[in-house]
Amino acid sequence: MLSNLFSLLLFCLCLSVYGNNKHDGSIKHDDPMLNTETPNYKEYCVIGAGPGGLQIAYFLENAGRDYRVFEKGYKAGTFYLKYPIHRKLISINKRNTDRSNKEFNFRHDWNSLVSHDESLQMTKYSNDFFPPADVLVQYLNDYATKLNLKVQYNSTMHDILKRKDGLFQMWDQHNNAYTCKYMIVATGIAKPNIPAIPGSELLVGYEDLSIDLPKFRNQSILIVGRGNAGHETAQHIY
Ligand SMILES: Cc1cc2nc3c(=O)[nH]c(=O)nc-3n(C[C@H](O)[C@H](O)[C@H](O)COP(=O)(O)OP(=O)(O)OC[C@H]3O[C@@H](n4cnc5c(N)ncnc54)[C@H](O)[C@@H]3O)c2cc1C
Ligand SMILES: *[C@@H]1O[C@H](CO)[C@@H](O)[C@H](O)[C@H]1NC(C)=O
Ligand SMILES: *[C@@H]1O[C@H](CO)[C@@H](O)[C@H](O)[C@H]1NC(C)=O
Repeated sequence: MLSNLFSLLLFCLCLSVYGNNKHDGSIKHDDPMLNTETPNYKEYCVIGAGPGGLQIAYFLENAGRDYRVFEKGYKAGTFYLKYPIHRKLISINKRNTDRSNKEFNFRHDWNSLVSHDESLQMTKYSNDFFPPADVLVQYLNDYATKLNLKVQYNSTMHDILKRKDGLFQMWDQHNNAYTCKYMIVATGIAKPNIPAIPGSELLVGYEDLSIDLPKFRNQSILIVGRGNAGHETAQHIY
């Protein structure tokens, strides 16, 4: 009896020491560890430091909220390190509007995020109507830094769940646990859309597309899909 009690105590101790912020990779929703407090608590968790995550972070920061953004990349806006594949944005940067109305002008600047800092406007970063994607990466990282947004980089979050006490819990790739009262997911469109058509396995997806023009020389090219990615590809090859 005594030894049973001892092992029970030991078991509980293990849970409170390790169970709080470490995790072995297998998640059970009724796991008692999910009802204990953890040190990594934030009232608001935001996943993703793309334009969406950074914009909500700006408002949380200005409202003095307890928040943290978790970003799997090593910097903000990593979507734009690869996309658009042909490296030119399709969002306009209209600098010459012939108007002084800031609201009107801002509507013709499709790339900038909202902030009180007028240096953080894409019109001040590029003269191009369609700026290079790399400029947007720079812009987004300046936005995060200058506005003191609390972003934790190199953090890939997984297995978000809601605990019995109502808090959200999730883990990073090192299985450190984080809890939060509010969870805001701003992870973008991460997966390719593979069309359900016979022969789709023969297609090269936009995500694997080469931008090396000589590879397309003297070829007959079929582009499947006439959305932005299809048009962008056609224009490049044309
Ligand atoms: C091919 C293509 C081209 C586009 N070109 C343009 C363009 O030129 N101009 C334009 O305005 N819009 C463009 N868009 C739309 C563009 O995706 C959105 O405007 C914008 O990037 C969406 O912002 P977001 O913050 O929602 O997502 P994203 O920018 O995708 O940001 C999501 C972030 O979440 C992070 N993340 C994902 N999963 C996790 C995780 N588990 N843990 C931690 N972090 C995670 C990612 O690393 C990423 O940084 C394009 C879209 C596509 C598909
Ligand atoms: C994130 O990881 C990269 C390597 O991929 C490293 O250079 C960088 O210093 C790391 N940043 C932080 C904040 O840990
Ligand atoms: C293009 O392909 C045709 C048919 O195979 C070939 O005759 C021609 O020499 C090629 N042209 C070039 C420039 O490679």
